[in-house]
Parts: sequence; structure tokens; C-alpha cells
Amino acid sequence: MGTEKKYIKDVDRLIPRPDIALEVLQMAHDTQCSIPEMAHRIEMDPNLTANMLRLANSAYYGHMREIKSVKDIILRLGLETVKIIAITGASAGLMKSPQQAYNLDPGSLWHHSHATAILSTIIAKYAKIKEFGSIYTASLLHDIGKVILNRPLQLAISNNKQPGRKFSSLIELEQCLLDTDHAKVGMALLQKWGLPDDVTIPVGFHHTQHGKEAEQINVRVVTLANFLVESIGIRSILPENFTFNVQDFIDQNQELPEVPSFQENMEKIIDEFFYQLNQATKLAR
Ligand SMILES: [Fe+2]
Ligand SMILES: [Fe+2]
Repeated sequence: MGTEKKYIKDVDRLIPRPDIALEVLQMAHDTQCSIPEMAHRIEMDPNLTANMLRLANSAYYGHMREIKSVKDIILRLGLETVKIIAITGASAGLMKSPQQAYNLDPGSLWHHSHATAILSTIIAKYAKIKEFGSIYTASLLHDIGKVILNRPLQLAISNNKQPGRKFSSLIELEQCLLDTDHAKVGMALLQKWGLPDDVTIPVGFHHTQHGKEAEQINVRVVTLANFLVESIGIRSILPENFTFNVQDFIDQNQELPEVPSFQENMEKIIDEFFYQLNQATKLAR
């Protein structure tokens, strides 16, 4: 760890430390989590409460009567769903701004991250991974480093001494101009915020193909989901008549991280992903 510390030093000015959201994130990862306590903490943050109510009332959770309070969410949707909604609600606020250096319009990073989280959860379910809360959180936050590096990268690009130089990947460009990358900076930020290793490591290694960390199952699932969402080309809300040909993708023979039961179920996984993504984004149209 080195350069990334420099970029997160003043992070509190850039992303105000979302204290309540972080506490809720940590509570959601705690097996002893007390629901009344969690509801109480959530209600102390009006933005988080509003985000959660909006999500809970979305078509995704398909219920008849409007949910009006955090306690209602807990009673009607159950603990596991509440955790997912709390994590989603807490993360949404962190990445709504545009990231011009990465060509991301307002909301695009959020849509990409949300899509990655939905897909990782489905991949994890097929791989029979029981504890997928950390995979879900890591997927939502995997590109949070872009929020921090947006400004430094913009400056570095405008001061670039070799403007004609081509880079084979975004990571290579970031490494060359900033001496670090958004995955490492994201991991350093989440470590600073006190999130557990099973969330921070997949964030830090989601562009790494080899090595001890890249072999961990949480990392492989997040890396695979991010790669697929990028290949599918989801930049913001899914357009009405969007199609993605799984067979064409398989024919390209890309090197993908190995995750149990993925290859043989890819068609089903992608179908389920599009269905869930459409349900989840209907509200945002
Ligand atoms: Fe990334
Ligand atoms: Fe990504």
C-alpha cells in the first residue's frame, strides 16, 4: 500500500463519511444483528431511509400495499431482504455523481454497480455459496475508487506528456498516470471505513487475474460479474429492446475466472439477470 493512501487522505471532503450508512453496512454483516437497533439507526439518516423505502416499494419486491416505514420493511420483507436493501440504500448515495474522467454520466456508475451486484448474487447462488452478503456488498462498491480518482485522473490526463500513447486497459492508464488504480484506492477507502476483508479484497482485486487473492471465490465471483456486465454493455438503465447473445459471447472464448456451475448454466444465469435487472430498474424509468 502506498500511493492510494495519498488519494484517500482527504477523502472526507470528497465523500463525506457516511457514518450511519456504514454502521448499517457493518450491522448487516454481523450475524448477531439486532433488527430494532438497525431500524433505529437507519431512521436517523433521512436519505438512507428514503432510499430504502423507494427500493422496498419497487416492483422488484412485488407486493400489494405500500411500505411506509423501516419497521414495515423488516416485518414484510424479512431480515435477509432488509440487509440487502440497507446495503443497496447505503451504497447508492455514494456514487450518484458523474465521473467525467471515466466517461460516466450521473447515475451510470450506480447502474453499473447495481447490475454487477444483481449478477454476482445469481452467480453465487448457482455456485451454492451460502454467505453471499459480502459478495453483494463488494459488487456494489467495487468501483468506488473511481469516485476518488475522477479528479486526479482528469488532471493527469490534461497534463499528460505523451497524449498519443495507447493503453491496453483502464488499469494500465491509471497505473501509468497516477501510480495506482481505482481497485486499490477503493480497497484502501473501504479498509479505512472499517469494512471486513471479505468485502475489501474483492474490491481491491476485481481487475486481477492471477495470484493468491484473485483465487478466492468472492474475488472470482465479483471479477466475473463485473466483466460480464461490462461485456453486456450496461452503461445506465437498460433500454427497452436490449438483447445480449450468450452464444456469441461463448464463441469469443474469453478467459473468465472459474466459478463452479457457471459455464454450464450461463444461459439461465443471464436470463435471470435480465429479468431481475428489469424488475429492479422499472422504478427508475
Ligand atoms: Fe473496476
Ligand atoms: Fe466495474
